[in-house]
Amino acid sequence: MVFKTYHFKSISSTQDKAKEFASKGLENIAVISDVQTKARGRFKRKWHSSRGGLWMSILVKPGNMGKMQYLTFCAAIAAADSIKKLSKLNVKIKWPNDVHYNRKKLCGILTEGHFGKNDYAIIGIGINTNQTKFSNDIKNTAASIKSITHKNTDIKKLSQIITTNFFNLYNNYYCKNKFEEIMQKWKSNSDTIGKKVKVITTKKTFIGNVINIDEDCNLIIKYKNKKNKIVE
Ligand code: BTN
Repeated sequence: MVFKTYHFKSISSTQDKAKEFASKGLENIAVISDVQTKARGRFKRKWHSSRGGLWMSILVKPGNMGKMQYLTFCAAIAAADSIKKLSKLNVKIKWPNDVHYNRKKLCGILTEGHFGKNDYAIIGIGINTNQTKFSNDIKNTAASIKSITHKNTDIKKLSQIITTNFFNLYNNYYCKNKFEEIMQKWKSNSDTIGKKVKVITTKKTFIGNVINIDEDCNLIIKYKNKKNKIVE
């Protein structure tokens, strides 16, 4: 598939720019910015986006918007495989959408669906790449490829590999409703299954063992009273 990439030096958020492009009728594009001044993460959290990271959003208009969790999975697989290939780091996907190395977060993914006359999805991918300094609120939990390998990564090359990987997964599996294949690839890149996890929801916090993941990409957790809990 042919996809086009739009590159900016500094914009508020590649998510918003992709939305702007969607309203102009574009699709199958990647939007990249060297710096984002108002980037967001999941749950409306602030996302640090200084120079040195890869900040990109991919805009697609799939026929099937009902399985959007699998777009997040495609992005996580694409990011993990690309980092492995380029930086030789044995990264793992942490459910649902983070790529980690030794418990530190290297990459976060934010998928936003827009429903209206034209439905579309924007998948934002943020990879800490060449930064060496992190602000206090994330310095214990985040890492960059450079902070681990002490080598600079070619951000353009990384973005090209990720975008190509993503569109391959999207075309070959998502658009053909082959969700089981995406799940298999996600599982082989993830170390979440079998792990003891602490689940923090808006209502309560509990600890349990992850026994599997269901076809809607929810975690199935064995809780201490032996009952299974589903975490969305
Ligand atoms: C998370 O882990 O909370 C998701 C982080 C997603 C960050 C990316 S960076 C590119 C895109 N633009 C944004 O404003 N957010 C996403």
